[in-house]
Formats: sequence, C-alpha cells, structure tokens
Amino acid sequence: MKIAIAGLGTVGAGTIQLLSEQAGLLERRCGRALSVTAVSARDRNRERGVDISGFEWFDDPAEMAARADADIVVELIGGEDGAALATCEAAIAAGRGVVTANKALIAHHGTSLAAAAEKSGAALGFEAAVAGGIPIIKALREGLAGNRVERVYGILNGTCNYILTTMRETGRDFDGILADAQEMGYAEADPSFDVDGVDAAHKLAILTSVAFGCEVDFAGVHVEGIRHVTAADIAFAEELGYRIKLLGIAQCSEKGGENGVEQRVHPCMVRADAPIAHVEGVFNAVVAEGDFVGTTVYEGRGAGAGPTASAVAADIVDIARGARIPAFAVASDDLSPARTIPMSQHSSAYYVRLMVVDQPGVIAGVTTALRDENVSMESMIQRARDPDGPVPVVITTHETGESGMIKALATIGGLDTVVEQPRMIRIESLKK
Ligand SMILES: NC(=O)c1ccc[n+]([C@@H]2O[C@H](COP(=O)([O-])OP(=O)(O)OC[C@H]3O[C@@H](n4cnc5c(N)ncnc54)[C@H](OP(=O)(O)O)[C@@H]3O)[C@@H](O)[C@H]2O)c1
Repeated sequence: MKIAIAGLGTVGAGTIQLLSEQAGLLERRCGRALSVTAVSARDRNRERGVDISGFEWFDDPAEMAARADADIVVELIGGEDGAALATCEAAIAAGRGVVTANKALIAHHGTSLAAAAEKSGAALGFEAAVAGGIPIIKALREGLAGNRVERVYGILNGTCNYILTTMRETGRDFDGILADAQEMGYAEADPSFDVDGVDAAHKLAILTSVAFGCEVDFAGVHVEGIRHVTAADIAFAEELGYRIKLLGIAQCSEKGGENGVEQRVHPCMVRADAPIAHVEGVFNAVVAEGDFVGTTVYEGRGAGAGPTASAVAADIVDIARGARIPAFAVASDDLSPARTIPMSQHSSAYYVRLMVVDQPGVIAGVTTALRDENVSMESMIQRARDPDGPVPVVITTHETGESGMIKALATIGGLDTVVEQPRMIRIESLKK
C-alpha cells in the first residue's frame, strides 16, 4: 500500500517516523506492507528530523495527489481551503484514499468531501482531526454504532485547557499565562483560533455530524473563547465548588416541538467533583452518552506529533485493510440537514460577576433587573468593602432561559452603579 504525504511539519514528520518505526507491526495488522512513496511541502531543503531522500518530491501537493504512485494521500498541510482542499479533491477525483488531520477543512467541507469520496469509491478518514490521539471518531462511528447518541461533550483544545489549568494553579491572569504558553510552544504565535474557541468549534462540528448523523454545520456552532475568564472568576468558581473548563457540547434537543442539535463552545463552570473537571493541562477528554451504553469517557493527548500520527496511522490501516465505513457513520446522502437550535432557546444556570460601586442600594437595582426577566437567584457573594473603588459581586442563578438572562445583563450593565460590563459564565449540569 503506497502512501503520499502532503505537509511535512509536526504531524507529517511524526507520521513518517511512526510508519517507519512501526513498519513490521503495521504490515502484520494490514496484511501487507505500507510504504511512503511521495511527499510534498513548501521547502524541499528544510531539515525535518526524518529522512525523505528516498521519496519522490512534489512542489505542488495537488499535483502529487493526482499523479503520484500512491493508493492513499495523507493531507497534513492545514487550513480550510487552499492547498489542503485542492490536495484532497485531487486525490478523491483520482480515486485514492484520503487521510487528513485537518479539522478546519473537515468542519467546512466535510459533507461535500464525503459525498465526492463515496462517488469516486475513495475512502476518507479524519480521526486525527478531532482530539488528536483519542480515537473518538471510531468510538462514535463504530464502537457506539448500536446507540442513539444523546449528548457528546468534551475538552477539545489543549491550549485552552493548559491556560485555564495554569490560571487555577497559579492564581495568575490570562495574558501572562498565554505569553508563557507561547514561549513553551503550547500556544501558537497567533493564538486566536485556540483561545477564541474556533479550533474547538471545528472539532465539535465534526463530532456532531458523526454522533447525530447530520451534515457538518460549523456555522451553527455558538462559539465563545476564554479571553474574558479572569483569575477572579477562577477563584470564585473554586469557592462555589466549580472549575472552569472550555467545553464543546453537542446535544440533541426538542425545542418548539422540533428536534434539533444544540452545538456550543464556551467556558463552563462544572462541578469540581465531575470527572472532566480533573482533566488538566494539555489533555483532552470526550464524553459520549448513548441510550443503551450509558456514559462513556475518553481521555488522552489532544495534539503533538506522536498522538496525532497515531490517529493518522489508524485511518491508514483501515484503508489498507479495505474497510469502507461511511466517513460520518451514515452515507452522505442519508445525512440529515443540520438543524441547529439557537442559543436564544438555551437554558442553564448562570454565574455572573459584576464590578459595582460600594454604596447602598446597588444590589436592589441588580435584583430588580433579574426579577423583571424572571431570573431566580441562587446565591450571592459580596465580600470586599472599598469606599474608593469598585468591588466584585458574584451571583449564581437557578436554571433560566438564556434570552431573559441576556436581557437582564444588558439592563444591569446600564446601571450607573455597575462599572464594567457584567461577565457571565454558564454553569453546566453534566448529569444525565
Ligand atoms: N500539530 C498538532 O499537534 C496537530 C494535532 C491535530 C491536528 N493537526 C492538524 O494537522 C495539520 C498539520 O499540522 P502541523 O502542526 O503538522 O502543521 P505545520 O507544522 O505547520 O506543517 C505544515 C506543513 O504543510 C506544508 N505546507 C504548507 N503550505 C503548503 C503548500 N501550499 N504546499 C505544500 N506544502 C505546504 C509546510 O511546508 P514547509 O515545512 O516546507 O513550510 C509544512 O511542512 C493541520 O491541519 C493541523 O490542524 C495538528
């Protein structure tokens, strides 16, 4: 089985290393030898830590995908369009199997690529695109095939989890920890895809499609990142018995008499005794709940050369064995149109942090605004006293509708006594 690899960066070089070091094991598992025949990247002369001298070189990865002597094309370039998309489309058109780690590509073009692959008889694998080394696509698509999945959620971005974990452990604020993470290579120079939740949203959109059998709908994911989470929020969360995690959550819901899927990525307060609260640092975790199996939990490294190459290899082995499983668990013709339930129909309990001037009557204005929107308060913390400056007030609510909560926060933000925009974090009930 001949393999062409487009992209020789972290994952590309890791994949070449794995295929070389595990050659004997893979041959026994596939029933035939796997060999890399062709590669493509931008700079032919860059030192990559792996020997590529024996492979045919292509400057253009799409040309390689169309012309190389290969059965499988592995796309490890990245980006939702451009060279990555052209490479996958060319490989599929040529009837070659495609394996990719590219979540942006699959989140934007997954449904059409799956349809094209089915038409040309090519296999499409993207295990490495979601949660790195955790085999969650296989778990949902194959291991849980006998279940109706009711909810799938997880920590899908290691950079955010590292930052939130370190903020909690050190009491420091977001900006300083992000700068350290960039220096240590845990965060990109441009961290926006990670810290603004986009990377987790790409992965969630893919999980949603595999779990619920609907078309990939990245535009339907509600996305919030972690830039607004402060050290104070993390300390208040601890005091209230919670931890703050950036979760991606997809849930089948019935709202207004219609079935749909809620897809959301945002910081969540989860009970400190919930298993997912203890997934720390760069680790990822995914929880999938099925009607027959109950709750299943998967944890592991969500990125890095080794874990991601491990997932790439799993897809290569499937193709080499001749497995033909629909990429999104059902044939692309049978994927239902995405029906995303908007956040305005969401309901949850909420944590709200206000910075208020320390004078009598402030709280009355706040509670009136909540009451007017039928938001019921569960608890309030107002401890510090400072006649010269603003003090924090923290409120938690009982479960309430998101739209009423947003209106109440707008009213509260407009009060003369409230000096900053109120900060809200949803309190996630992870109970079934
Ligand atoms: N890094 C991870 O831990 C991880 C985890 C899961 C998924 N992924 C996904 O895996 C993919 C690759 O990530 P990575 O971290 O390995 O990226 P990377 O280190 O930046 O490597 C990208 C590679 O693509 C090549 N490339 C870029 N544009 C090209 C073009 N137009 N034509 C040919 N080659 C081109 C680059 O060539 P040069 O080297 O010559 O510049 C480089 O070798 C992405 O989709 C990413 O989201 C990564």
